[in-house]
Amino acid sequence: MLTNIPHGGKLIQRINFDYDYSILQKEVLIDITALSDLELIANGAYSPLTGFLGRKDYESILFNTRLSNGLVWSIPITLPVSEIQANSIQVGDVVKLIHGGTVHGILELQEMYMPNKEREAEQVYQTTDVAHPGVKKLYERGEVYLSGPVTLVKHQKKAHAGTFYLTPEQTRKEFLIRGWKTIVGFQTRNPVHRAHEYIQKCALETVDGLFLNPLVGETKADDIPADVRMESYQALLHSYYPKDRVFLAVFPASMRYAGPKEAIFHAIVRKNFGCTHFIVGRDHAGVGSYYGTYDAQRIFNQFSHDELGITIMCFEHSFYCKKCGNMASTKTCPHGKEDHLILSGTKVRDMLRNGQTPPPEFSRQEVVNILVKGMKKD
Ligand code: ADX
Repeated sequence: MLTNIPHGGKLIQRINFDYDYSILQKEVLIDITALSDLELIANGAYSPLTGFLGRKDYESILFNTRLSNGLVWSIPITLPVSEIQANSIQVGDVVKLIHGGTVHGILELQEMYMPNKEREAEQVYQTTDVAHPGVKKLYERGEVYLSGPVTLVKHQKKAHAGTFYLTPEQTRKEFLIRGWKTIVGFQTRNPVHRAHEYIQKCALETVDGLFLNPLVGETKADDIPADVRMESYQALLHSYYPKDRVFLAVFPASMRYAGPKEAIFHAIVRKNFGCTHFIVGRDHAGVGSYYGTYDAQRIFNQFSHDELGITIMCFEHSFYCKKCGNMASTKTCPHGKEDHLILSGTKVRDMLRNGQTPPPEFSRQEVVNILVKGMKKD
């Protein structure tokens, strides 16, 4: 059964630019991840969340991959602050959320609690290794979690820049205007190379539209910057995709690199944006060798289709095969590794930094040109 009902039944809307917070005294500083989470709670992308999570939901997510009401949810959306800041506020306060000197949100503080970060790392990231960028970030963030409903009073400038920022309500309208009934969402934190293009187009063969939804929030330092990627996506779509079959909008979240747990989160968020299908390829949201190649696909077997409310389209490792003379995957190609063109992300970034161009079988020339130019600016 296909639905594109938001997770939990309705889209949350907690944006109020007219909110008068002039009389509020209490305030805390929030980091960039919390700022992007604030934005995405308020615009409905994280529906049914209405705020940062309290201990009951937090524990339930860690151990059951569900909110305390039973709804599937895999990444704890928390608001960590330092102990010093936590000591300056108390439950019941209405607190201004400040980033970079600007008030972006308001929190009705309902609860404060101290998480056990090692336990969170184990449950969400499956490792406590600080070399894992998501775990490192988790440990660096504040020691006290604040929880309660939020209101967004000012957009995050970066997230909102340009015409590619849309709320789930707006993307749903766009899909409706295009007459799309089935829409496949694609998450990426990378440029779209030929393997990505291949799985997107395989998926598009069976649905009405493709929603290209690159993550543009915080990523690890050696990932390709979002502005360069955005330019490359536009060039690629312009030359190789039919205009009436693809829609591009940003997903301004921070990357967690949590592999399987993040894949569930990515799928649910795209369901909120109006997708009926979601692509999960090899090592989705993975980093290094922390997760098995297909772990992020297998984790979906734990849930029924009805409770997820979005159809997962799984793809095997794809590449260009010299013998086949086209793109293929481990599922469709009988030839050996020696015939496959596979370049790691690290290798490609090194090539680009040195002004070398990956071959056209790996990446479209239009994309490569923009990446080489963008990496030189770095
Ligand atoms: S991710 O961290 O956002 O998942 P990336 O941008 O590399 O990283 O991947 C986007 C999507 O494409 C993910 O679903 C991933 O599993 C899939 N993917 C990336 N490269 C390949 C590939 N060579 N073959 C199959 N799927 C791939």
